[in-house]
Amino acid sequence: MLDLSRFQASGRETCFHGRHIAPQIYAGLDGSNWRLADYVARGGYAALKKVLGADGGAGMTPEQVVAEVKASALRGRGGAGFPTGLKWSFMPRNFPGAKYLVCNSDEGEPGTCKDRDILRYNPHIVIEGMAIAAYAMGAASGYNYIHGEIFEVYERFQQALQEARDAGLLGQDILGRGFSFQLHAHHGFGAYICGEETALLESIEGKKGQPRFKPPFPASFGLYGKPTTINNTETFAAVPWIIREGGQAYLEVGKPNNGGTKIYSVVGDVERPGNYEIPMGTPFAKLLELAGGVRGGRALKAVIPGGSSAPVLPASVMMGCTMDYDSIAKAGSMLGSGAVIVMDDTRCMVRSLLRLDYFYMHESCGQCTPCREGTGWLWRIVDRIEHGQGRPEDLALLDSVAENIKGRTICALGEAAAMPVHGMLKHFRDEFAHHIEHKTCLVGAHARDASLPPEGVGIPSGGPAQGRSLAGAAK
Ligand SMILES: Cc1cc2nc3c(=O)[nH]c(=O)nc-3n(C[C@H](O)[C@H](O)[C@H](O)COP(=O)(O)O)c2cc1C
Ligand code: SF4
Repeated sequence: MLDLSRFQASGRETCFHGRHIAPQIYAGLDGSNWRLADYVARGGYAALKKVLGADGGAGMTPEQVVAEVKASALRGRGGAGFPTGLKWSFMPRNFPGAKYLVCNSDEGEPGTCKDRDILRYNPHIVIEGMAIAAYAMGAASGYNYIHGEIFEVYERFQQALQEARDAGLLGQDILGRGFSFQLHAHHGFGAYICGEETALLESIEGKKGQPRFKPPFPASFGLYGKPTTINNTETFAAVPWIIREGGQAYLEVGKPNNGGTKIYSVVGDVERPGNYEIPMGTPFAKLLELAGGVRGGRALKAVIPGGSSAPVLPASVMMGCTMDYDSIAKAGSMLGSGAVIVMDDTRCMVRSLLRLDYFYMHESCGQCTPCREGTGWLWRIVDRIEHGQGRPEDLALLDSVAENIKGRTICALGEAAAMPVHGMLKHFRDEFAHHIEHKTCLVGAHARDASLPPEGVGIPSGGPAQGRSLAGAAK
């Protein structure tokens, strides 16, 4: 049996390092205090009580809850940064049948590891956030879809759910206030595409996890064809603080249009990789400093600021950015899932793109031709460039293949595969050209990555050349 123990996080290295700034979600966690009593001691469930009027106050109407979330400028933490309050307002108010609430804890974006730490060390904050959201949108049932490869997190969440049910915080007639909400945990099986919201719904329904064509959007046709709201784990985890302290206070923690704190998974070439919760609008330089700077004191070369789908930015651009949706978008990338992939000056961009392209090719669900075939084309072109068999026309071909995927697919995985290509060619074209012209790397000699398959093995056929061994065979 494979021993996976060395991969188990203790939390010490990922989020108990004490280097957060004004944390709201990771505040006061030590790894052992994840249970209901601990959460209540930290002020947990006060927001749910406030909403339901179970604290002796007047309570809040669903409309007031949505208005508070709108005022907070909370934006979805799953990748797109869509305003959460606005999304909640799309749920039909007087729909006669069932409505659902779904939490997206699939977290498959390479580099991202924040949601699992929330669920592992503070599961009740997500349960409370979901209960408040369910009240605001009139949903009587909900699911938390948890990534299949972190089964112990799923098991812990089940335990937390049971604690909440036993305490009357979930289920029928919550806190005796006439509001009922049944919440269940559901685990996936590790496919990246099941993080896409409609593929996730298909997967909960027991079908193959493939995205649906939109529209209709989940707010009108979601789980089992009923109105459904889907939010990311961190999005729900932000809600109790907003309700307790007020939307305006949350907004003021961050900056206009980018309220509150955000958790960044800082990974790659830094001294102290881990999850860092800091206010929106904090300079990137500060985040890098919290993470101990570039490993070994080397120079910063580039950063992928929002998970593997986000276009890379050179160090000079990144050092002028603040960490929020608007600043990163202005610089030509996106905040995405908040995984900050730091690359030092030893990193070869051709090789890095090869690794990314392999991921997207592997994870394409295969429904759309541009994505299914195009991701394989991208991988094969970069593979031959990396291995000294690139052709002069390859850079234009890469641009063209990426361009022809974008906007022609059912879901955004196509864009996610295309955007890194454009980013790399925009900022590091010279490295690709050098590989093609000189058959060597500008950065240094490097061996083939053992995590990639042998050339031509397990790769879908077709495209401009079928792997290095066949390079030149297809024109
Ligand atoms: C290929 C793909 C993978 C995705 N993976 C995730 C994921 O793991 N977690 C997540 O919250 N959102 C993921 N998303 C975004 C979701 O579709 C959806 O926008 C998000 O869950 C909405 O929550 P939010 O508004 O709180 O951000 C993914 C999208 C795509 C296209
Ligand atoms: S874009 Fe790719 S992953 Fe998304 S539905 Fe089409 S084939 Fe599947």
